[in-house]
Amino acid sequence: MLSAPSQVLVRNKDIFTTGKWLLVNPTDTHITSSLGQADISVFHQYFDIYQQSQSHGNTQQHTFAAAYPTDNKFDGAVIYVPKSKDQLKMLIANIAACLNKNGSLLLVGENKGGIKSAVKLLDPVSSQTNKIDSARHCALFGGQVDKDVKAFDIAKWHKELTVAVAGLSYKVCSLPGVFNHGSLDLGTQLLLENLPDIKFGRVLDFGCGAGVIGCFVGLKSPDSKIVMSDVSALAVYCSQQSAKLNGLDVEVLASNGLANVTGKFSTIVTNPPFHTGIQTDYSVTEGFIGQLNKFIAPSGNLVLVANKFLRYSELLEKRFNVVTLLKQTTKFSLYQCNRVK
Ligand SMILES: C[S@@+](CC[C@H](N)C(=O)[O-])C[C@H]1O[C@@H](n2cnc3c(N)ncnc32)[C@H](O)[C@@H]1O
Repeated sequence: MLSAPSQVLVRNKDIFTTGKWLLVNPTDTHITSSLGQADISVFHQYFDIYQQSQSHGNTQQHTFAAAYPTDNKFDGAVIYVPKSKDQLKMLIANIAACLNKNGSLLLVGENKGGIKSAVKLLDPVSSQTNKIDSARHCALFGGQVDKDVKAFDIAKWHKELTVAVAGLSYKVCSLPGVFNHGSLDLGTQLLLENLPDIKFGRVLDFGCGAGVIGCFVGLKSPDSKIVMSDVSALAVYCSQQSAKLNGLDVEVLASNGLANVTGKFSTIVTNPPFHTGIQTDYSVTEGFIGQLNKFIAPSGNLVLVANKFLRYSELLEKRFNVVTLLKQTTKFSLYQCNRVK
């Protein structure tokens, strides 16, 4: 069954019968086929939906990237409203630059996701916005892009922060929509302050975000080979930029869970996800822990930080012979796990 925002688009599918359209970050893999014979391209910033969508249509229809190339022009676009308002601002600036003069820019989203207040963010590009429909606790709003639109340059949205932790000071590049945009997460800080020495070997930073952990390990342990992975194109892009800022030669992969990660690691370090969109969701981390026997070398180890209320210790004990609680604060638990089963 389609998500509620996609159902609202299907109720209004006549909109898409004329012109060339772009859908941005749809939450469903088969939305384009539900909208009939329309000329629709899709821009994805999340690798899971991108990968699954490719099997539902023309693969060239789908683009996975941090920003959509503005040399491609459309008559209209629909942005599925993200949780982060700053990410939406950046998407509006990017997508407005991909539209023909007076093209339509629409926003769809759930009422509880803040669609009503999001509409104001169209003001810089549109002089009038209207509600087109509301149903299924969602709304579809939009307007014509009739104001002057600046050329879009993602670099203008970079936020460079200096992370000073555990005796090291280094730079990290962040973008709106990336985890904890522009600051060091307290759980990640606890992990870095208590990270056991890593001398060499392949190290994976799973769910790398802006690359805070991967860059720290790369700088502290120059003989290690760093791989970072994340489902978000914005995170992949930022981790690449962060590695560049620190002169590090690393591999950064887009991957849903461990699906596109290959080979074994001597250490996996992670502050793993527990959200999908606005919902709490443990399934990614449960799936990740469940598969670690295929990714951790027999003498390797996992270092994982998680909110204290997330009870990962049982899962970890099923997968490892030795699970040590390295540190616990009122908010976070830091585990080191050895001897993978
Ligand atoms: C708690 S954040 C940690 C980010 C970063 N390592 C840090 O410590 O600042 C978790 C990260 O997991 C990523 N993530 C969410 N779902 C994922 C999935 N299915 N596969 C891979 N990564 C995922 C998120 O995009 C986010 O960057």
